[in-house]
Amino acid sequence: MVSLKFHDMDTRPDLDPWLGGLLVLPEWRNRGVGTMLMHRGTKEARRLNVPRLYLWTHSAEKLYHKLGWQVVERTNYFGKEAVVMQFDLSGQSQRSIPKPRADYLRSATRLPAAAGELRGAIR
Ligand SMILES: CC(C)(COP(=O)(O)OP(=O)(O)OC[C@H]1O[C@@H](n2cnc3c(N)ncnc32)[C@H](O)[C@@H]1OP(=O)(O)O)[C@@H](O)C(=O)NCCC(=O)NCCS
Repeated sequence: MVSLKFHDMDTRPDLDPWLGGLLVLPEWRNRGVGTMLMHRGTKEARRLNVPRLYLWTHSAEKLYHKLGWQVVERTNYFGKEAVVMQFDLSGQSQRSIPKPRADYLRSATRLPAAAGELRGAIR
């Protein structure tokens, strides 16, 4: 799952809106699902005419950097090193969505089941 939200970081009330809550079930990781969710989030923001999105992360800077996000600041948040990043949605065309791996495509029919599992997990 992934969300677009307001006021995601107490220390940066000046920045809005945010992309957050990126989560892929452990058994579905490293197949490009997180990347696709990120593209879906930025596509939705573009549809809503958001010029720039922000996120903060303790752990996934490498993934976001690969997707074109830029570092705004490095800081300490909740007692750990965190990085605030931004993605400019104005002007440039959306990067093409990377193709999932072949084994991901073969198992894609299981995705609805995985979505059901996720819904069950957050009830
Ligand atoms: C962070 C998270 C969402 C990534 O999800 P994911 O589905 O594994 O993400 P992807 O598969 O798109 O990318 C992860 C890796 O697979 C690689 N990858 C990307 N697209 C790929 C594809 N099409 N096929 C295969 N591998 C791919 C990426 O290069 C990345 O490798 P890296 O180790 O070099 O960064 C997931 O690990 C997660 O839910 N973590 C726990 C919650 C969390 O930390 N969320 C982020 C909060 S800021």
